[in-house]
Amino acid sequence: MKALSAVAEAVQASTTLAIDAMYKKMQAEGINVIGFGAGEPDFNTPEHIKEAGIRAICENKTRYTQTVGIQELREAVCRRLQEDCGIAYQPNQIVVSSGAKHNLYAALRTLINPGDEVILPAPYWVSYYELIKIAGGVPVEIQTTAEQGFKMSEAQLRNAITAKTKLLILNNPSNPTGMIYDEEALRMVAQICVEHDLYVIADEIYYGLVYDQKPFCSFVSLGENIKERTILINGVSKSYAMTGWRIGYAAAPEPIAKVMANYLSHTTSAPSSVSQWAAVEALSGDQAGIEAMRQAFEERRNYIYERMNQIPLVSCIKPEGAFYAMMNLDQLIGKTIGGVVIQNSDDFAQVFLEKGLVAVVPCTGFGAPNYVRWSYATSMQNITEGLDRLERFLAE
Ligand SMILES: Cc1ncc(COP(=O)(O)O)c(C=O)c1O
Repeated sequence: MKALSAVAEAVQASTTLAIDAMYKKMQAEGINVIGFGAGEPDFNTPEHIKEAGIRAICENKTRYTQTVGIQELREAVCRRLQEDCGIAYQPNQIVVSSGAKHNLYAALRTLINPGDEVILPAPYWVSYYELIKIAGGVPVEIQTTAEQGFKMSEAQLRNAITAKTKLLILNNPSNPTGMIYDEEALRMVAQICVEHDLYVIADEIYYGLVYDQKPFCSFVSLGENIKERTILINGVSKSYAMTGWRIGYAAAPEPIAKVMANYLSHTTSAPSSVSQWAAVEALSGDQAGIEAMRQAFEERRNYIYERMNQIPLVSCIKPEGAFYAMMNLDQLIGKTIGGVVIQNSDDFAQVFLEKGLVAVVPCTGFGAPNYVRWSYATSMQNITEGLDRLERFLAE
C-alpha cells in the first residue's frame, strides 16, 4: 500500500500518553495512584452555565450556527475582553471555534506557508510544536531557564529571528511554566515583532488565573500596531471549568478572521450550538464563581511551591498564573532511583508512577527534558498526599 501522509506521520504521539495510559490502567486495577496530569480544572462547570446549555437544548437551539459562532456569543466575547483586558474588538473580528486548540490550528493554517519559521519560547505547551509542523511550519525554539523565570530575553528573541521568521507564539500566562510576562517585557517583545514585521499568536487562555494580585496585561492592549499583527487566542475551558464544552475563540483583524472563518467553514461548519449558548452565559453572567475557583488555585499554588522546595533534590520556581508547577530534576539526573538510572523526565515519571504511585507529566515534549509538570487542578488532599509520596520516594 502507498505511504500515509508524511506530514501526519511526522506528528509525535504525546509524551504524556504513555504515563496517562499506565496511570489509568493502575487505577482500573484498584491501585491507589494520584494523578497530577490533568490540564483542566477539577471544579464542575458552574450551575448557571450548565442551565444555559440545558435551556438551549429545550428551546431547540440545536442547529448549525454561523461558522464563526452566534452573534450573541461574539458580542459577549467583545464585552468580556473590553472589561477584563481593556481591549476593543468588534464581533466581526471574533472567530469562535471548538476549543482554543482548534483556534490555534486555524490560526497557524491561516498564517503559515511551507517552510516559514515560527518562534516558540521553551518550555512550551506540547501541542504548539506539533501544530506548527502540521501546518507546514518550522518550529524555532528559544531555550529559557528557571533563572530567567522562563522568560526569553531581548537578545534571545533577536537572535532567533531570520529572514524566514513569520511569527512568534507567546503563551501568557504560560503552560507549563506558570510564568507571566509583565507589561515591560511584553513591550520589548512587541517592539521587536513590529521591527521585523512578525505576526504573533498570543495565547492568553489562562489570563483569568493570575495570582498575588498581579495585574494582567494583554499583549494586544499595547497598541494598534500590535493588534493589527496579532491573533489573540482565548476560551472558556480553563477559567470557567468548561473543558468538555469545547468553546474557544480568536480575536483578530477582520481580514485574518475572514480567512480563518473560510478555513473552518470547510472543516467544522460551526462549533456546538448548545455549548455556544452556555458560553454566552459564562462570559456574560455572574463572575463570582470564577473568582472563587481562582482563589482555590492560588491556595494550592502556595502550598505546592512551599512544600516542593522543602524536599531535598527537587525544586520549583513560584508559578504566577495558570495551574502548573515545573519541578526541576537536575539533581536527580544520573542517579539510580527505584532501580532505574534517571536520564530525563520520562524515566523519572515512569518510575515515580510505578514505585511512588504518583502520575506527573514529563516535559521532554515540552522542550524541558529535566522537568516534570505537576498540575494543581486537584484537591488539597491529593496535593498533600502527592507531595508526601514524593518525599518518601526520594528519601528511599
Ligand atoms: C496554553 C493552552 N492553550 C490552549 C489550550 C486548549 O484549550 P481548549 O480546551 O479550549 O482547546 C490549552 C489546554 O490545555 C492550553 O494549555
